[in-house]
Amino acid sequence: MKLRKMWLNINGANRVFACNPEKDSLADVLRRMGLTGTKVGCGTGVCGSCSVILDGKVIRSCTKKMRTVEEYSKVITIEGIGTPNNLHPVQVAWMNCGAVQCGFCSPGFIVSAYGLLLENNNPTREEVREWFQKHRNVCRCTGYKQIVDAVMAAAKVVRGEASIEDITFQLPEDNEYYGKPVVRPTALAKVCGLADYGDDQELKMPAETLHVAVAQPRIAHHAKILKIDTSEAETMPGVVKIITHKELKEAGGTNMMAEGQFHERTTVMVPSRKILAEDKIFRYGDVVALAVADTKDHARAAAAKIKVEIEQLPEYLSYLDAVMPDAMRVHEDTPNIFSMQPVMKGVGLEDPAKVQEVIDNSAHSVSGSFHSTREPHLTIEGTTVQAYFDEDDYLTIQCKSQGVYSSIGRIGNSLGVPKDKLRIVLNPTGASFGWSTNAGDICLAGAAAVVTKMPVALSMSYEEHQHFSGKRCPSYSNGRVACDENGIITAAEFDIGMDHGAYSWGGDDIMTKPARFSFFPYKVPHVAGLVRIANTNHNFGTAYRSYGSPQAYTLSEALMDMLAEKAGIDPFEFRWRNIARPGDTNINSYPFRQYPMEEMMKMMRPIYEKAVQEAKAADTPAKRRGVGISWGGFNVTEGGTDSASAAIELAPDNTFIKYDTYQELGQGGDIGSLMLTLEALKPLGVTPDRIRLVQNDTKLCPDSGMSGASRTHFMSGKATIVAAEKLLNAMRKPDGTYRTYDEMVAAGLETKYYGKYQTVSVPGLCRLDPNTGIGDPTPAYTYCLNLAEVEVDTATGKTRVLRFTCVDDVGRVGNIDAVNGQAYGGISHCIGFALSENYHDVKKHANMAGAGVPYILDIPDEINVIHFERPDEEGPFGSSGASEAFQSSGHMAVLNAINNACGVRVYEMPATPEKVKAGLNIIAAGGKVEPPQKYFLGSELYDELEEIKANPVKFGGDDFFIPLGGASAERFF
Ligand code: FES
Ligand code: FES
Repeated sequence: MKLRKMWLNINGANRVFACNPEKDSLADVLRRMGLTGTKVGCGTGVCGSCSVILDGKVIRSCTKKMRTVEEYSKVITIEGIGTPNNLHPVQVAWMNCGAVQCGFCSPGFIVSAYGLLLENNNPTREEVREWFQKHRNVCRCTGYKQIVDAVMAAAKVVRGEASIEDITFQLPEDNEYYGKPVVRPTALAKVCGLADYGDDQELKMPAETLHVAVAQPRIAHHAKILKIDTSEAETMPGVVKIITHKELKEAGGTNMMAEGQFHERTTVMVPSRKILAEDKIFRYGDVVALAVADTKDHARAAAAKIKVEIEQLPEYLSYLDAVMPDAMRVHEDTPNIFSMQPVMKGVGLEDPAKVQEVIDNSAHSVSGSFHSTREPHLTIEGTTVQAYFDEDDYLTIQCKSQGVYSSIGRIGNSLGVPKDKLRIVLNPTGASFGWSTNAGDICLAGAAAVVTKMPVALSMSYEEHQHFSGKRCPSYSNGRVACDENGIITAAEFDIGMDHGAYSWGGDDIMTKPARFSFFPYKVPHVAGLVRIANTNHNFGTAYRSYGSPQAYTLSEALMDMLAEKAGIDPFEFRWRNIARPGDTNINSYPFRQYPMEEMMKMMRPIYEKAVQEAKAADTPAKRRGVGISWGGFNVTEGGTDSASAAIELAPDNTFIKYDTYQELGQGGDIGSLMLTLEALKPLGVTPDRIRLVQNDTKLCPDSGMSGASRTHFMSGKATIVAAEKLLNAMRKPDGTYRTYDEMVAAGLETKYYGKYQTVSVPGLCRLDPNTGIGDPTPAYTYCLNLAEVEVDTATGKTRVLRFTCVDDVGRVGNIDAVNGQAYGGISHCIGFALSENYHDVKKHANMAGAGVPYILDIPDEINVIHFERPDEEGPFGSSGASEAFQSSGHMAVLNAINNACGVRVYEMPATPEKVKAGLNIIAAGGKVEPPQKYFLGSELYDELEEIKANPVKFGGDDFFIPLGGASAERFF
């Protein structure tokens, strides 16, 4: 290898280094020099997270080879823009405008914005947006609006029209913090490029740390493995160990990740997922072996030499293929449809077929078949994990995990390390949106550490990550709904098939969501429904914000619009007539926990009417304008068996330490915990600077549960209140004042108190009956009413979302910037889901851009979020959950708006320009865009419901859970 000695002027100072000019990128060099504020996400020039300024121009440093960089060039990185003690206005604005969530994109954006302001310190919002589009800066968390807000605020300071104080949130003097935009504690490090994400941790590990690369053959979606040949790989330079399932088993592991069966109708009897493939490849992204070597390059070179001989098996890449009668089983122990959940209500409870009669005899009815895609999460940071044995001999895994404790349950016996010797630590994390609920990557790094007994680091390329990590389950659905002559719904039927891909874990949980959220939040008196879930050979299904409910709304919110049209009623008015009102029940025959629907529709009505008028006025043959509405919502908590713990300690300096596992993935686990603690300790007049958070390390923190199911603020909040009350009681003196730390010690009182909250205390919570779908599994709901305004270019079929409005009810807002962040971010994912995102073609969808990530011009600058703020009776300080409702059904507002604009109903997402254009062509030829042929989902709906009625399973109640995969498996979902 030939190196070049070079000088660069970096952040004002001349610095010398050696590099490989052909291989090294500018990002590689900067990061090796310790300037790890330059983040590498995609590594292929499509995300902008590595942006730096080179000789006055913003560039993406990951694709800038050193051979093309002139010596003594001037480079500005995030570290040269401002430091914690000397922040640039752009950094201050980023922190105070809610532009930082996970923060992984922030350094790249800030550098890019700094470059813009050097050229133009008085940009318009549109110029800011065009700048970020040109420089390919992607943010997956914020929805971009807050980022433009931040640039506009900073520009004012740069021009001298405002001071730093003007753009800084001033803490209230009355200690009333709850609801206010208190800046998140992790924001400062993030905007300065000082937050050490997984790859930064890797660079800062001790020199002896070994590097792990995956052998991910990517040669088939389904195949028998005949031979794994590691002989050549073992002779490669720097190789320490090649690990297949055999080496892991020799080291004591079972290689089998633990699973849990949650549903009485699930047929899975053995865990479906191995850490390293043994005798079969089940999906394209399966890993067969690990190469462990002294350097990352050596590990990757060795992994490339691992050869796999296979015998091809039939590949079932969609639900529709996997459920055909002649399809072979993906997993031998279970039929491909491995679980199902019926829903029967009204006459459907007595005899499901009677629902058919009600529909047939109603004044109007519509039917349709719909498909939602395998939506990829597209976090900018991919998979990166470090593993080592700590000084107390804990196998410590630093990773991205939405449930540090639940990851321990998921590891189970697979690594051969006792559960009480596993320590999971959350790294500063470049977002997740659900994929890190799964611990496959944790197990890979853990396996390498267990076999080699050395510290290891695993960092996948973005493409490896994209094929390895799970995705949202695609759905195929058939449905019908009917109404009377007044537009009042009489009955509905639905049949939904969900593709859970190669592995089963979580499948019997996710399939209960469409059984709860189809036709939410309407009053439907008679229902016959069924949700089935099947294994296929595509990527496995996993959590994604609003887990399982977008598939339901894809069906029901299309049918609602179609029925309104058939009945000749405005779609807003049609929904108004059909929303549930106090006393009405949901499709699971229980009352809604709250009834904010009327109030929310009243808030939206004038906005809707204005949008309709504007759309009419602006509509032209070339640019059709339309307005779409959708209702959505989600549950809060994991139901009747949910539990969370937290602890608060009074420190010797009379500050407070809060311990919890409120996992921070960009959604605000840090600020959420801080807001709750401030509010809980309000009697003490505590200020934010007097609370230190110790979070997300299973060795140090109590188990607050998973960051998912819109549960964390609710559950962790309740646990925080209990802990705070105990501490306050101990500190309180007879005269009502509070003891200091010294006084507590002198009085012999404990200074650290634990709080625990369990939903078992909520009256009436019960799972869905597996025979009828009757049940009430959530103590609260969140609600969203969406309005999308679109323009369709009839020449190309391209849809642009011009404006998006959401009226929500997430209870009382805990931190307005964090809640808005979830709203804007969720809405931007909805738009991407509706128009562009997919992971189906493993070649085309292998990177962020190919998979359809929305860039800034794909998302409207005008996103209006209106909080109804009904204080929740059950939640902490009136808050409910706040995240997933925002991504539940926004895609349907977009699809309904396209139909409203140009008469093209897109039944099979995403609504790409080609699909919309094809629909326009059909209409131009005098035709009508028809739904696809009714999907075959395994058997006819009513036959299956009759079978279920005739053969009921025993309903195990809330305790039903079968651990699979060894004694360490526990209730981890
Ligand atoms: Fe360089 Fe994505 S553009 S990391
Ligand atoms: Fe932009 Fe997370 S804050 S990607």
